[in-house]
Amino acid sequence: MGIKQIIAVASAKGGVGKSTICANLASYFAKDFKVGILDADIYGPNQHILFDVLDSKPEVKTIDGQKSFMPIKVNNIFLNSMGFILDKDKAAMWRGPMLSGAIKQLKDLTQWGDLDYLFIDMPPGTGDAYLTVASEIKPNQVLLVTSQSKLAVQDTLKSKAMFEKLKIPMLGLIDNMSYSIYPNSDEQILEFPSINLEDAIGLKVLGSIPRTKDLANFNPNKFSTFFEPLYNELIKVT
Ligand SMILES: Nc1ncnc2c1ncn2[C@@H]1O[C@H](COP(=O)(O)OP(=O)(O)OP(=O)(O)O)[C@@H](O)[C@H]1O
Ligand SMILES: [Mg+2]
Repeated sequence: MGIKQIIAVASAKGGVGKSTICANLASYFAKDFKVGILDADIYGPNQHILFDVLDSKPEVKTIDGQKSFMPIKVNNIFLNSMGFILDKDKAAMWRGPMLSGAIKQLKDLTQWGDLDYLFIDMPPGTGDAYLTVASEIKPNQVLLVTSQSKLAVQDTLKSKAMFEKLKIPMLGLIDNMSYSIYPNSDEQILEFPSINLEDAIGLKVLGSIPRTKDLANFNPNKFSTFFEPLYNELIKVT
């Protein structure tokens, strides 16, 4: 069976919430499906931190003479990341070809088993990591995470143009942190001057995730109900 669907969670803009959305979505999907996460942010991996498995090391097995990694299983999710494999600061100054090689190896040498979904947490930018993921991992679809700031919108347009060039279908946008909900209140406080993202970017908004204290402190043992509408939207189209 292998991996049925590979979904990259991406944006050219840093800090818009790719890793947070990826971890929450994977957790939500893992209730009903077999799910993996590949952390493709080689310079700044985060998933091992979000899932509280900072000191785990994937078991290395030799299969048919080839070294391979057993992913770390955490809360029913199979996870692999450079964060497990390299010393903390080792990859920080790698040039493009080493980065590309690392992403390819991480995907190919991990024994993912049969998965319904593999989510890829992409780094910010539009460079080597994106070209490698497009050519070597070939995601079935991409989710673009954005906020409603002018800068995020411009960077999301860049991401959109890049994925069009790479011919990877985009499922749509996730509007993150454009409003806040504070503990013990249902009130939604707008964080940005409201922009119509669908008009500005030309892609469908699949879900709007608020800025909350809980989402800022991801708890791998508890899934956020804010992801339910997005999950329902995604299972229709994937
Ligand atoms: N919906 C949210 N509510 C509250 N905090 C959030 C939310 N989404 C993201 N954050 C916080 O914003 C910061 C950036 O999020 P995150 O690291 O997920 O972004 P990123 O796009 O993956 O960043 P990078 O480009 O550096 O990889 C983090 O501190 C995270 O906890
Ligand atoms: Mg990230």
